[in-house]
Amino acid sequence: MNFCDLAVSGVADLRPYVPGKPIEELQRQYGVRDVIKLASNENPLGPSKAALAAVALNSRELSRYPDGNGFTLKTALSEKFQLQAEQITLGNGSNDILEIIARCFVRPQDEVLFSEHAFAIYALVTQAIGATAVVTPALNFGHDLQAMLAAVTERTKLIFIANPNNPTGTFLSASDLYQFLQQLPSNVLVVLDEAYVEYNSEPSASFDWLAQFSNLIVTRTFSKAYGLAGLRVGFAVSDPVITDLLNRVRQPFNVNNLALAAAVASLGDEDYLIESRAVNTAGMQQFEQGFKQLGLEWIPSSGNFITVNVARSAADVYEALLQRGVIVRPIAAYGLPQHLRISIGLEAENARCLQALAEVLES
Ligand SMILES: Cc1ncc(COP(=O)(O)O)c(C=O)c1O
Repeated sequence: MNFCDLAVSGVADLRPYVPGKPIEELQRQYGVRDVIKLASNENPLGPSKAALAAVALNSRELSRYPDGNGFTLKTALSEKFQLQAEQITLGNGSNDILEIIARCFVRPQDEVLFSEHAFAIYALVTQAIGATAVVTPALNFGHDLQAMLAAVTERTKLIFIANPNNPTGTFLSASDLYQFLQQLPSNVLVVLDEAYVEYNSEPSASFDWLAQFSNLIVTRTFSKAYGLAGLRVGFAVSDPVITDLLNRVRQPFNVNNLALAAAVASLGDEDYLIESRAVNTAGMQQFEQGFKQLGLEWIPSSGNFITVNVARSAADVYEALLQRGVIVRPIAAYGLPQHLRISIGLEAENARCLQALAEVLES
């Protein structure tokens, strides 16, 4: 029996998401001891001390199910961002929420719209449902909002927009996004994925727009600037009617005890967020300077990563960097076979990555 024939067609043809190579895997495969990983846009500072303390305290509760409603975290989010708890959906990472949204609203006969070079999960969740992905060509590696508007049809159910975008780091201004929302039919849902929004010095206006655009869903995560990628916690903010629908599909205990407690603690640790931003800004400048010296072009980034054109097969450069114990991210699957995406690390990690890159490009 070929079980692929039994799978729904979207799933049978699905190619799974390829994450950054884990450090232990490289150590096992190549026998390299001293490895740095700049491949998954993680916070190089490690978790905040407040989050670690909250995890230690709450580990006593591991025999209990988590609060399926996430009351404490929703309260903390509501206070911090002036939201109502009824607008918030918690997820096992924001990835969980992106999938819940698609499962909740998208049918096989629908179209889902997103940009070329946009975050890979949008295509995956669309295909898993068997819906049609409509991909608009990128403009300067980012979203072309006019092209996206022009691509809306009667079948368009959902639009995914990542701001900043991963893997290109491109950023859409508040005024461009606002005008886009104004021009969009109100029966088309927009997911504004703000996984990297905390790296901008300007606060995002997206939550303020929710009162005007009930078709807008904003997603955020604790995986990046809040340093909790391993715990898996993210959230969506939307109209309460949408939130209610999302929570019908959500698994009842999708965010665990430790993640809930650590997220609350991280949210209150403003110093950690400021330090995360500062380390990122300094690291970004370090890479830009390094690329300039190497004569490489890069895409200006608003995230905690930078995408550089190595002007040759990026897969080869990636392999050679692995042999030197440096893990970055090849992004040929995003249609960028000569680019590498490098997550911003600590100063010494960035320096080692640049040094290894210089050696590889010279050889
Ligand atoms: C644009 C974007 N959205 C969402 C996510 C999902 O992150 P998480 O599930 O860790 O919240 C990522 C992770 O890399 C991302 O780059």
